[in-house]
Amino acid sequence: MSRRAYRAALLHVLDDPSRAPDAAAYHPDGLLVIEDGHVAAFGAYEDLAGDLDETTPVEDLRGHLITPGFVDAHVHFPQVDVMAAWGAQLLDWLHTHTFPAELAFADRTHADAVANFFLGQLLANGTTSALAFCTVHKASVEALFEAALARDMRLIAGKVLMDRHAPTGLTDTVEAGRADTEALIAAWRGKGRLGYAVTPRFAVTSTDAQLAMAGEVLAAHPDVLLHTHMSENAEEIAEVARLFPQARDYLDVDDRHGLLGPRSVFAHCVHASDDALGRMARAGASAAFCPSSNLLLGSGLFSLKRACACGVNTALGTDVGGGGSFSLLHMMGEAYKIGQLQGDSLDPLHAFYLATLAGARALHIDAHVGTLEPGKEADFVVIDLSATPLLARRTAKARTLAETLFVLSILADDRAIARTYLAGRLAHIRTVA
Ligand code: GUN
Ligand code: ZN
Repeated sequence: MSRRAYRAALLHVLDDPSRAPDAAAYHPDGLLVIEDGHVAAFGAYEDLAGDLDETTPVEDLRGHLITPGFVDAHVHFPQVDVMAAWGAQLLDWLHTHTFPAELAFADRTHADAVANFFLGQLLANGTTSALAFCTVHKASVEALFEAALARDMRLIAGKVLMDRHAPTGLTDTVEAGRADTEALIAAWRGKGRLGYAVTPRFAVTSTDAQLAMAGEVLAAHPDVLLHTHMSENAEEIAEVARLFPQARDYLDVDDRHGLLGPRSVFAHCVHASDDALGRMARAGASAAFCPSSNLLLGSGLFSLKRACACGVNTALGTDVGGGGSFSLLHMMGEAYKIGQLQGDSLDPLHAFYLATLAGARALHIDAHVGTLEPGKEADFVVIDLSATPLLARRTAKARTLAETLFVLSILADDRAIARTYLAGRLAHIRTVA
């Protein structure tokens, strides 16, 4: 049995603070006890220290904040090299920057190298779980799963399905897409902490027949997610209306093919109507709000207030490479700015919920991660509140937990992530301060 304890400020959020005002558990001087990769205790140092036997090592991390690892609810591992592409909006950006970069993943050596770099970036930013797009190539998924399994990460990914409107070399067919998806599910789902998501890219690049196949595969595997893009950009939405004239709206295209349900995660939903958001909520589907990507690609302003009012579980995604950072702390800040432009100031604890438990709920992994309740897997991050002179100065002046979190969301980046732990094991330690 391995047992270790960490003394630091501790925070987790046990529910959506906009609905449950007492959802945050915060201990300015806390003790986190880890046993065999799981949380054994989370509480105030003065309450727990007396119960520790003297053989349990206690590491003093005062001046740091320990939180659950962040959950990135929408990200593309093959798009590391298209981050910070200038001047394009979605459809143009896909054809000019993204599809050429994804073609390179036909080469397994390239896929392995990028998968390892990508997971290193997640961990360096405190992200311990993600729902990730791969490319159309089956081997791209194998590369990412192999790298995640080696790190024992709780990661969900899938092979992209595209059978039209994409370059030769990036398309599959209905039957090849089905065969590859089924083979990947059989080989990887449930291995270590891995999960699978059926991943039709978006309605533009799949025929009716391929979307129907995706629905059939989803129905056949009750532990598998559905991951796609929806209602991101005006031109894209017009194209979907042209391609599917019989559908009531964009969401209806997915719904007609059996893709709207409690295991569905729709990235973006920027322009989804209240009616569509209401249908998502009734189905138990989740939205991945990707504020950095929405700004960089000029897609529009997602209304978190509206999504919440319609009852949709909403989480945060970086959408790398549309997004400009791997940091969920940064996404909390970008989400705040998008709210400000709409007269809605996002509460810092709500933002923190979006980056942790809401993501775990969207990915259906909240029984295992997303909080640091005893029994959960010990995926956590150690945030250095004085990582830079500016952070040290500003956090020292913060009077409340909400203020500290807000300062982190605006001023912090990967320099503030001192360490990241996966299942109780140190998976990343910052090398430069
Ligand atoms: N819609 C279809 N594909 C993509 C993609 O790769 N990124 C984003 N942001 N939107 C998409
Ligand atoms: Zn995306």
